[in-house]
Amino acid sequence: MTDTTDTTALTERTVPPRVVAAERIASEAGFKKSCIPEVGRLLKLAAAAKPDGVIAESGTGSGVGTAWLHSGLAGAGARLVTVERDEVLARRAAGVFADDERVSVLTGDWRLLERHAPFDVFFCDGGGKRDDPQGVIDLLAPGGILILDDFTPSPGWPPHFEGTVDELRLFYLTHPALEATEILTTPTSSAVVAARRL
Ligand SMILES: C[S@@+](CC[C@H](N)C(=O)[O-])C[C@H]1O[C@@H](n2cnc3c(N)ncnc32)[C@H](O)[C@@H]1O
Repeated sequence: MTDTTDTTALTERTVPPRVVAAERIASEAGFKKSCIPEVGRLLKLAAAAKPDGVIAESGTGSGVGTAWLHSGLAGAGARLVTVERDEVLARRAAGVFADDERVSVLTGDWRLLERHAPFDVFFCDGGGKRDDPQGVIDLLAPGGILILDDFTPSPGWPPHFEGTVDELRLFYLTHPALEATEILTTPTSSAVVAARRL
């Protein structure tokens, strides 16, 4: 019997070319806040789960998270809108998606996203997460998926951060409009993933 196991697939995980391009921009710009691949694959999964959906991101950075979301975009009707307040970063990230009219890279405050809501997926990564958590939830469509990364895993309940209850994380995890959970993205980092109830 022929062994058809693809050992490459077992030892390497593919990274979408646009993610590579956005990571290069980050490196050139000295930008160190791009999402990690573990989060990126979660973003791809979420976008893929919403064919023809409206996918949003606050805080484009150099476009790494945007590129992961883009890699999961499904359907000609899908839209991806992202916003970044740093003009230089926004312009450079926009170049990564210049050939795809489904993608809009906005420059300015995260509230520019409001006119594109409701969102089927919202990666809230720059603006909103801390300063207006209820406003973030209000932008979700029924069944819409919210992803928030960069938490520190906390054993037990309620979640703690630096010795005190993490009220922000608790807000999202217990919000009555959300079905939410926290997942490990690495042994030392976690993400909150939530779906808006109908
Ligand atoms: C964690 S980084 C984003 C990383 C990116 N989402 C990724 O996955 O590669 C946060 C970004 O949000 C931007 N940002 C922070 N506050 C913002 C706001 N109120 N409106 C728009 N962008 C904001 C910052 O300039 C920064 O580039």
